Amino acid sequence: MARTKSAGPAAAPDRPTADAAGRAKLEAPTIPSRRDAPRTMRELRESTDLRRKARADKGAENPLREGLRLERVPDPNIFVLFGATGDLAHRKVIPAVFQLWRTHLLPYGFTIVCVGRRPYTDEAFRAELRTSLHRFSRVQPVDEETWSDLASRIVYHHGDFGDPATFAALADRLDGIDIDHDTRGNRLYYLATQPSAFPEIIAQLGRAGLDHERHDGGWRRVVIEKPFGRDLESAIRLNREVGKVFREQQVYRIDHYLGKETVRNLLVFRFGNGIFEPIWNRRHIDHVQITVAESIGIEGRGAFYEETGASRDFLQNHLLQLLSLVAMEPPANFDADALRDEKVKVIRAISEMTPGQVRRDVVRGQYGPGWVSGKPVVGYRQEPNVDPASETETFIAARLTIDDWRWSGIPFYLRMGKRLPKRATEIAIQFKEVPHKLFRESASDPEPNLLAMRIQPDEGIMLRFGAKVPGLGIDVRNVTMDFTYGSAFQTDSPDAYETLILDALLGDASLFTRADEVEQAWSIVDPIIATWAEEPAPAFPSYEAGTWGPEAADDLLAREGRRWRRI
Ligand code: BG6
Repeated sequence: MARTKSAGPAAAPDRPTADAAGRAKLEAPTIPSRRDAPRTMRELRESTDLRRKARADKGAENPLREGLRLERVPDPNIFVLFGATGDLAHRKVIPAVFQLWRTHLLPYGFTIVCVGRRPYTDEAFRAELRTSLHRFSRVQPVDEETWSDLASRIVYHHGDFGDPATFAALADRLDGIDIDHDTRGNRLYYLATQPSAFPEIIAQLGRAGLDHERHDGGWRRVVIEKPFGRDLESAIRLNREVGKVFREQQVYRIDHYLGKETVRNLLVFRFGNGIFEPIWNRRHIDHVQITVAESIGIEGRGAFYEETGASRDFLQNHLLQLLSLVAMEPPANFDADALRDEKVKVIRAISEMTPGQVRRDVVRGQYGPGWVSGKPVVGYRQEPNVDPASETETFIAARLTIDDWRWSGIPFYLRMGKRLPKRATEIAIQFKEVPHKLFRESASDPEPNLLAMRIQPDEGIMLRFGAKVPGLGIDVRNVTMDFTYGSAFQTDSPDAYETLILDALLGDASLFTRADEVEQAWSIVDPIIATWAEEPAPAFPSYEAGTWGPEAADDLLAREGRRWRRI
């Protein structure tokens, strides 16, 4: 690697300038350039104050935005990206890092070492990343000056993950970067490879001594992508392998749903407001529905999906994470462990299913050919790299119950499907009927109150209640009160990966799943997978692409006099 220091980044893209008529705008305080990036807590505090002031001056036209961000800049560090040539790195990780860089949330002392099996020169690899960035960056057009500034900090390290020489050379290279770029021994190892490579990479990091934290403060952390294991046994084994090398505090297991702005807002909604918590229980809530609908199919990931299916791809992680945030008790504070303790308690309180319960309360489905958004699409079995007789489920619906004082007897209905009519993730809290119907004579029968939290798209929260229709008689109809992020804050939300990468660099593990949490979630999914394995082959395909899943999913609610909310 050429050990030259690169130039500082371009001026902040959103810094105030003179307007079109040349009038000087309100003078904003000067923000230190990245070259002067904060190195001590005092400098950091001062620079944060300046930034906040500048932001408040600019954001004056929208009072809801004021004072929103509490920005912290991570320590100087090296971001070591394994699987850098893969899809995830190109689609998600590098665009997220670029966005953090663009918005000055990364330190000046920052280098990305991309590790991959294919040979590349630094230049050739940067060119590939640039092409992907132009495709996948959420902010367009990509600012070339900012990119070339970040690109000058990206180097490529070629090697086989099974070869100790790769890691010995990596160790030397990282030490060199520490000296030349003042990254102070801080390293984040990001595993964006195939899951089968996780144990090998972790063991090799250990053998090369790359896990050792230094006494003078150099931290070492590892970010592990999902899926974490493919059942309880393999998850325990993987946790054990990871635990031989890293302490739990060094491990950041990603479930990117936890980084979504609206998912994080669930905590604020529940615990930052006084009026919802008193009614957030079995006395007032009839049931909860969590829906993740995707209109996309499997996007060329046939081989991956054949191994996972909706139960492993979604139920074990994203759906159970959403459920735990809806159902958890308030933590005493937002320490990573305090929060995760409460989440684990909820998952632990979910009744594990017997085979009979699985047959009764869990529905699986697979899409056949159909139409989505006005276009014909093939069935799952016709997708590339999928077995033409595949029994893999692309849809799952489950009725779960949580055996604790707050939720006993209240069903949580979860569903997820590929190739449904639209993309929509929503949590619906259905409240109970009024105890005594005073307005029975009303022309329309008002439905009970409902609170719908739209996770994506059209992020927002809707409350439904009955109101009197204007007129001389008493007619009650449902009306809604709607909050939408877009119109309230008039700003884009960060991508989940931006949030999570920044948190991992800052050492905040609250939005990452802990070892016990992952294992507990597998213990809910394991009996389902095991029961299905014993069953005769399901009659797949069981729903047409572009519909809301198999009829059995509707029956799951209908037998209790309920129905899925139309989204
Ligand atoms: C991934 C799943 O974890 O999440 C994919 O493997 C799914 O199957 C994706 O499509 C959905 O993520 P998002 O952020 O688009 O909702």
